[in-house]
Amino acid sequence: MMPRRYYIKTFGCQMNERDAEIMAQSLAGDGYLAGDSLEQADLVIINTCSVRAKAEQKVMSLLGFLRKIKASRPEMRLCVAGCVAQQEGARIIERMPHVDLVIGTQHIYRIAELLEAARLGGQRTVIDLQDNYQIPRFLPQSQKCLPPPVRPFRKFVTIMQGCNNFCTYCVVPYTRGREVSRSAKDIIDEIKVLVESGVIEITLLGQNVNSYGRTNQVDTENPDYGFADLLGQVAKISGLKRLRFTTSHPKDLSEALIRCFADIPKLCPQLHLPVQAGSDRILRIMNRHYTVADYLEKVNRLRKACPAIALTTDIIVGFPGETEADFSGTMDLLDQVRFHGSFSFKYSDRPGTRACKLADKVDEMVKAERLARFQARQDALSLERNREYVGEVRAVLVEEVSSSGARGRTGTNHLVHFQETLPCRPGDLVNARIVHAGQHSLQGRLAEKEES
Ligand code: 5AD
Ligand code: SF4
Repeated sequence: MMPRRYYIKTFGCQMNERDAEIMAQSLAGDGYLAGDSLEQADLVIINTCSVRAKAEQKVMSLLGFLRKIKASRPEMRLCVAGCVAQQEGARIIERMPHVDLVIGTQHIYRIAELLEAARLGGQRTVIDLQDNYQIPRFLPQSQKCLPPPVRPFRKFVTIMQGCNNFCTYCVVPYTRGREVSRSAKDIIDEIKVLVESGVIEITLLGQNVNSYGRTNQVDTENPDYGFADLLGQVAKISGLKRLRFTTSHPKDLSEALIRCFADIPKLCPQLHLPVQAGSDRILRIMNRHYTVADYLEKVNRLRKACPAIALTTDIIVGFPGETEADFSGTMDLLDQVRFHGSFSFKYSDRPGTRACKLADKVDEMVKAERLARFQARQDALSLERNREYVGEVRAVLVEEVSSSGARGRTGTNHLVHFQETLPCRPGDLVNARIVHAGQHSLQGRLAEKEES
């Protein structure tokens, strides 16, 4: 019998990328091989995102396209996973009868078993969300049936799932369920396996990593074990060279965590700290539990602990009721912090959220105009920030090498392009002198001295 081939199309965040790896491993264990095209695979999994309406629309149009492919290849099986699956559940199969299985965010570890059950005519929608869910123990396996990783030296490791914050605009607490932290031992064991297989950079992932260990005990001996403890323990793993994490909620950014940036050399000088808005009034309606002054105070403390830290953020423009004065607060905040980069979004109504029910929605044209103003200012700031690196020497983790050049990333997570042949391979750390700064990347030349 020909081996069955699967293809996973992932939308959305790093959490979803990592979930795709977990599903791939589950399928490999069941004899599937990785396929390289959606059109030819025996099993297609659409791993979905519903954080904004646009992401969800992309999923729906891809499912429409797959209807035609399935008409010509009825044996192809189609599974929808991730946040849209969680939210829409059986409605997906009602609208798209060519879908074979819909699985929610807490069921990805069981995908192979659920596919088999669906094939035998069982349940086709498995989306229940348990409040007392425990993340199963998971160890990566080096199986040749898995697709070769794009960057085998850099990996994401999930440390928690779900979110209890209920920011009023956000669908995540509904699609990913209650916050649950993974056992510290499972995390450490997984990272050790990864490092032994050649990984040198790890990014710890969770919706709000700062509250790791808060809702359930993660260490059998220490009931107070928290995120700063985990960072310290991961950093001790020999062979690991770089450590990052995302995402952090400003309200939970503790003093202990800020100290980690001063005390743990492997922890990269980079932090993504979503602020969302620069108006206290809007932050309150967003249910963020901090003020602009609180946020600025944390930024000061971070910069004191680690002067080299590069800060990035997320911003939503046009939240319901946002006035021009509220938006100017966001622009002022941008100038005060001078973020190295940011992701900015027009507010998008998500079904089931509290903000969705608010009156006073901002006109689409106004949102677009505010977004453009914000992004133009951020672009100028990113260029100014990048120019600060010119003349400096930075350690760069090489990602790609070709005959004409190479590229890699600094500890601050800046992309560096080399226009020379480097005597190295992807995964090597080299020193670069930064010779030119653009808006989105830096240019470097190989250098001798190590500075960071
Ligand atoms: N509309 C616009 N942006 C949103 N985000 C989350 N929910 C929404 C929404 N309803 C943004 C936030 C978050 C990022 C991942 O997506 O800025 O930090
Ligand atoms: Fe959404 Fe807020 Fe939770 Fe982040 S912290 S996932 S924005 S509810």
